[in-house]
Amino acid sequence: METRTILITGANGEIGHGLISHFAEHDGVRVVALDLNTLDDSSKSKCYKTYTGDILDNRFLESLSTAHDFDVIYHLAALLSTRAERQPTIAHKVNVDGTLNLLETAITQSRLQGKEVKMIYPSSIAVYGLPDAGAKEKANRIGEDQCTEPRTMYGINKLYCERLGKYYMNYYRQLDAQPMGGKVDFRCVRFPGLISAVTLPTGGTSDFAPEMLHQAAKGEPYDCFVREDTRIPFMAMPDGVKALLSLEAAPRENLSTQIYNVGSFNPSAGELKRRVKKAFPDAVINFKPDLKRQAILDSWPADVDDSRARKDWGWNPEYDFERAFEEYLVPAVSQFYKRK
Ligand SMILES: NC(=O)c1ccc[n+]([C@@H]2O[C@H](COP(=O)([O-])OP(=O)(O)OC[C@H]3O[C@@H](n4cnc5c(N)ncnc54)[C@H](O)[C@@H]3O)[C@@H](O)[C@H]2O)c1
Repeated sequence: METRTILITGANGEIGHGLISHFAEHDGVRVVALDLNTLDDSSKSKCYKTYTGDILDNRFLESLSTAHDFDVIYHLAALLSTRAERQPTIAHKVNVDGTLNLLETAITQSRLQGKEVKMIYPSSIAVYGLPDAGAKEKANRIGEDQCTEPRTMYGINKLYCERLGKYYMNYYRQLDAQPMGGKVDFRCVRFPGLISAVTLPTGGTSDFAPEMLHQAAKGEPYDCFVREDTRIPFMAMPDGVKALLSLEAAPRENLSTQIYNVGSFNPSAGELKRRVKKAFPDAVINFKPDLKRQAILDSWPADVDDSRARKDWGWNPEYDFERAFEEYLVPAVSQFYKRK
């Protein structure tokens, strides 16, 4: 079997951990992992090579290109929504300039190897922007091309990078007399909030769901920063990893677009609280909305229309709300804190 070399940026993050664990269980894959922070030992041992470095450092990215031939790049490194809102210029650098650097890396790699290089990019429901809670209630399930008026730095960064990816794939240096060669096969999923049982969230606006669960499992009270009726889409982390892998594996000719919504379940914060309390009856969860973060959540859709992903590459999440808690989140999070 041919061995594929896969670069994962932001490998030390929540999704990176899941992807690395997946690839470690499969033959024929060499994972090259890169993150600003040194990878933890358990993930390190699952990788072919790990690098501590910055995606804004072009010299460093060039040295990676010299050392490896990448078949696929999973570009995960980013500053998430809450952090991005607090440090907008740094967010723009990491999220936009960093993505541009990785697209250039993909093109260079493609030229050097004389074949297409795939780039898998996780975008977010933060690219959507509904004017207010009333419009959100009326809108129902949002399709990929509707309401893309984001009101956060993160959402704007993600929407622009989706378009950069399309440009690199379809129009890169379109005026050159002699085509320079090099082709990126850019594929993107717009994720809802992801809930992991084994990694802690790091500054997303959807973090109230994983925080509620983790605090309950630790036996600590939680002040939820949104109203009880707040409803956005969520997904269990194993399905997030599955979405990226399935999109990567899909035959190009089946893909009618490069940007796909993926949905799973969409409980309100109140429904989340009831489900967490069913698992951890002593949990103390209060709603203390932060009006500024609430306004951001009120601009994100209550649900997404993921029919394109279902049709084109057979998207079908394994975990609905009940199964996610019963079979993944509650057993794994309980085990996680027992071990600590
Ligand atoms: N987790 C979610 O709910 C969610 C939802 C939608 C989209 N996404 C997207 O998925 C991707 C991964 O998310 P995650 O939850 O694993 O995030 P995370 O914050 O857990 O991980 C991001 C990683 O990127 C690294 N990083 C940041 N700046 C870097 C830089 N300059 N150079 C190298 N590495 C850098 C961080 O050290 C971190 O380990 C991100 O692009 C995020 O926007 C995540």
